Amino acid sequence: MYAAFRSIGAYVPEKILSNDDLAKLVDTTDEWITKRTGIKERHIAAENETTSDMGVKAAALAIERSGLDKSEIDLVVCATISPDYLCMPSTATIITDKLGLENIMAFDISAACTGFIYALNVAKAFVESGIKKNVLIVGAERLSKITDYTDRTTCILFGDGAGAAVISATEDKSEAIIDVHTGSDGSYAELLMTPNGGSGSIHDHLTAESAGAFMQMKGNETFKVAVRTLTNDVKEILETNKISSDAIKHFVPHQANYRIIKAVGDALELKEEQVVLTVAKFGNTSGASIPMAINDIYESGRLQSGDMMLLDAFGGGLTWGSALVPFSPKK
Ligand code: UT7
Repeated sequence: MYAAFRSIGAYVPEKILSNDDLAKLVDTTDEWITKRTGIKERHIAAENETTSDMGVKAAALAIERSGLDKSEIDLVVCATISPDYLCMPSTATIITDKLGLENIMAFDISAACTGFIYALNVAKAFVESGIKKNVLIVGAERLSKITDYTDRTTCILFGDGAGAAVISATEDKSEAIIDVHTGSDGSYAELLMTPNGGSGSIHDHLTAESAGAFMQMKGNETFKVAVRTLTNDVKEILETNKISSDAIKHFVPHQANYRIIKAVGDALELKEEQVVLTVAKFGNTSGASIPMAINDIYESGRLQSGDMMLLDAFGGGLTWGSALVPFSPKK
């Protein structure tokens, strides 16, 4: 049994936060943000809109486009670092309930910006082992809730949104996800973290009122490790599977920073038209960024059945991953 990437969906909240808006909050400029990150604006969830609310909208679209009845979904995996609730219940169970799915396995993955690739790996393993047939994977983030809008080194980067995909069993090898690579290195844990809110917390209470509940990042160090790790990782997955970079129709990287994407794209000698870029309009949406980018090329008509995608991501943990995925909608 093989695992096929059947469909994609995404949801982008309406409200836009521009670079100029941020320049009113912190000491920054549109010019600095654009030059250093490629970001022009990001979307922000409405007041009462939760991560699961956004995840459900993306998921409903992905299920509809898969051609399946929702009752055929037998596992829901949600990748998020901004869950509805810190410890429990998982955002995946809330999404499952809101979709009207009953009695199925549902859980969250905590792998930060690599979350969607981790979820893809889990879905592939469950499907190939024959344990599940149709897995819904969701990347959803309300990062605005854990962003410190007084810290100019992080608040300019992050946005909200959600993406989802359906991974289904197939006997047709030509439809199969070719490979997924995933890794981590916890010795870099302090490069990107929310220091409050867990058993290692330095505070006794678990609310966002304490500054430690917000994301903190050593941006420049993270940048260097990201470029090095991602370049090695994408080269390795292509070499292992004997696929040349010419065969990649769409390189869909995690949208953290245009300069990181450019460095990795250049190392692979990719042409501009192969590289999918949404960072300018969505900013960094962590676990949601890759499915939002895939949905962007789907909705603009660029993503066609059989197109080979190379996904890559890097994030808190540290974690990283890459995947070679043909787009295989149901025939
Ligand atoms: O998604 C998960 C993984 N995340 C990433 O991969 C993100 C990796 N990091 C980055 O994208 C970049 O490191 C940043 C965009 C966060 C920062 O860019 P940088 O080129 O690494 O800048 P820097 O941190 O080295 O800072 C350069 C200067 C500093 O001033 P001094 O010390 O040179 O006087 C900062 O204080 O830029 C200053 N700075 C800013 N200036 C205006 C930092 N943030 C800002 C800002 N506006 N928003």
